[in-house]
Amino acid sequence: MTGAPTAVLGVETSCDETAAAVVEEGLRVRSSVVSSQVELHARFGGVVPEVAGRAHVEALVPVVAAALEAAGATGSDLAAVAVTVGPGLIGSLLVGVSAAKALALGWGVPLVGVNHLEGHLYAASLDEGELRFPLVTLLVSGGHTMLVLVEAEGRYRLLAETADDAAGEAFDKVARALGLGYPGGPAVERAAAGGNPEAVRFPRPLLDHGLAMSFSGLKTAVVRYLGTHPDAEPADVAAAFQAAVVEVLVTKARRAAEQTGVDTLCLAGGVAANGPLRAAAQEMGRAAGLRVLLPSRAMCTDNAAMIAAAGWWRLRIDGPSGLSTPARANLPLAAAGRV
Ligand code: KG4
Ligand code: ZN
Repeated sequence: MTGAPTAVLGVETSCDETAAAVVEEGLRVRSSVVSSQVELHARFGGVVPEVAGRAHVEALVPVVAAALEAAGATGSDLAAVAVTVGPGLIGSLLVGVSAAKALALGWGVPLVGVNHLEGHLYAASLDEGELRFPLVTLLVSGGHTMLVLVEAEGRYRLLAETADDAAGEAFDKVARALGLGYPGGPAVERAAAGGNPEAVRFPRPLLDHGLAMSFSGLKTAVVRYLGTHPDAEPADVAAAFQAAVVEVLVTKARRAAEQTGVDTLCLAGGVAANGPLRAAAQEMGRAAGLRVLLPSRAMCTDNAAMIAAAGWWRLRIDGPSGLSTPARANLPLAAAGRV
């Protein structure tokens, strides 16, 4: 091998996916392995932290081994081991962080702690190549819904975030109310495909209020509607709810791009896997003259390739993290770059 190593092993265990990936120079995915715990949690209707932590312990070593093997890499070839240090479930985070420290120490390669949200922001570079800044990212996941101005590699300004529920959380709660099961987002999308989005007019929360966002009232409106309309067609309710979320998210994203003067909008996070949201963002982009970057669906939902990509840049910006780096359940995006 010539030159400095450029492959980063990413490790992600912040919630209910155990994931490892090898990514070259923060851009080229050599392998990406995701072991989902969906079936373990489905019977509880949501993620059970204790169950998640134990499942990570069992899955992590085989998942890391599979990612290295698929990439044809060995530990000592790596530029770094990048691991999600937060935000997320503390018991789950600790499994990945402890393992990554042991691997980095054993292989004699640097450790890089990565903010999970920063990982989502880098997902687009895995499909689109090196990103051109500034750009605005709409980050919509199960725990977060935010608009972020990405000014340069690793430099962020939080423009707005939801005052209450994340968009993904609203999808999950509406799915439960409709009896569609867990995980909710994909189930609502599937049900909505056979429904009429105009069958019910749900509120578009804060649509005319700048970048402010809130999704808990919309979820409550759906639950209340189901209470008063027991014979409602679930597909119609799912479609009408989804249409409301999509309209709000796309309107806010367009406004954020206008206010900041950027020419590129990027989508990230699990909800960005939603087909109607992707289509509406693209259509809005065409009308508003914005370039819209849509990471592949697999890169929108939790994975370790995005962590490896963010880790590559963190290593260059901040250098390695110490082996005493803690896991933090509530780590803010501000702890990665400037916000
Ligand atoms: O980014 P992610 O995988 O994990 C977190 O960091 O939270 O996002 C998970 C969230 C869940 O709330 C899930 O229901 C939602 O993303 N989601 C979707 C879709 N796929 C996942 N929401 C709407 N439509 C989808 N196709
Ligand atoms: Zn995530």
